[in-house]
Amino acid sequence: MNCLISLVLYKFYINYKNVLTMAETEPTKTYTREYEKDAQKKHEKPELPTLNDYAVHRVHQDHPNVFYGTLKSTGLEVVVKGATPIKFRNYEAEDVGKICLCYEHATQDRLDHGNILAPLELYYQDDNFYLILPKVGKSDLNPDNRAIRLLPDSVKLTLLAQIANALAYCHKNEVVHLDVKGKNIRVENKKAILIDFGAARRLGETHELMDGLHVSTPDIVAPEHFFSHTITPSADVFSLSCLAYKLMTGKEPFMYDDNLEVLIYRKPSHNKEAVEKYKAGESIRRGMSINRRERPGMKEFEEMLKEEAARWNPLPSEQPSEPSPVLVQ
Ligand SMILES: Nc1ncnc2c1ncn2[C@@H]1O[C@H](COP(=O)(O)OP(=O)(O)O)[C@@H](O)[C@H]1O
Ligand SMILES: [Mg+2]
Repeated sequence: MNCLISLVLYKFYINYKNVLTMAETEPTKTYTREYEKDAQKKHEKPELPTLNDYAVHRVHQDHPNVFYGTLKSTGLEVVVKGATPIKFRNYEAEDVGKICLCYEHATQDRLDHGNILAPLELYYQDDNFYLILPKVGKSDLNPDNRAIRLLPDSVKLTLLAQIANALAYCHKNEVVHLDVKGKNIRVENKKAILIDFGAARRLGETHELMDGLHVSTPDIVAPEHFFSHTITPSADVFSLSCLAYKLMTGKEPFMYDDNLEVLIYRKPSHNKEAVEKYKAGESIRRGMSINRRERPGMKEFEEMLKEEAARWNPLPSEQPSEPSPVLVQ
């Protein structure tokens, strides 16, 4: 078992910076998405897809599978997400990528919530699938982004509460997002919108391929999901708590030591003092428990965030000195 964990960690360490990890349930293996390997090798931008109904203008700077464009008939701004080949068992990598994109669309399309992005369509052309989404938000809810850092506490807490509400809705509908992080949340006009259901799973269903395929980004994945592929709604509580902690304190919730994931979990840097000015601080810390049974439920977490947001109506001293693009009144 130790040997297995070491192998995973070694591979994880090598790939840590840019790579999504995927693993089969038995035995545990780490994969690199094919397109990322290729993009790294060639250091070149992928070609823009030519679609009949959409004009595609440019590629996302960090995501070679994500493009910006417009719907030709109306000029509506859209984001086009292409399938990415994934090596998995003895399936064709191209086929796995397509199945994942179809699964992502089907999962996201069944959800109807004001803080969850509704896809426009799954577009099919020349034997390829493209997930078409309306372009939303002024920026990601990335705590490292200056405009986000400068938001008043009450706004940050309100945005987090909106996402908690969206996730509680997902959980009620047997969907676990599994990739809750700032880069998968878009923000505009004090409204947060949850995007990217690429790692999400529908509970209570069996799926020949998706049940064996585990996708996670290493940033703030719940330990039980990363190490033993346990999928419960509480994984989203863990990730959202990590985001809340970073957003409210400006500090990383877990200490990085050589970027080895196991050490991140062993050495949490979060402490009482960092969040004690917030009443919800205790819930945020509990949400980051390594043992998932010690975490609060998503609804309870949302209530705490809402109460806290009300307590922190922005004081003049908290207002950012320059207007924030995500805080249009
Ligand atoms: N509908 C959208 N509106 C605006 N930006 C988006 C939208 N969808 C994706 N993006 C941007 O593209 C990035 C990658 O998209 P995402 O769906 O998260 O793909 P991936 O599965 O590769 O992470 C997001 O972090 C965000 O910056
Ligand atoms: Mg994403």
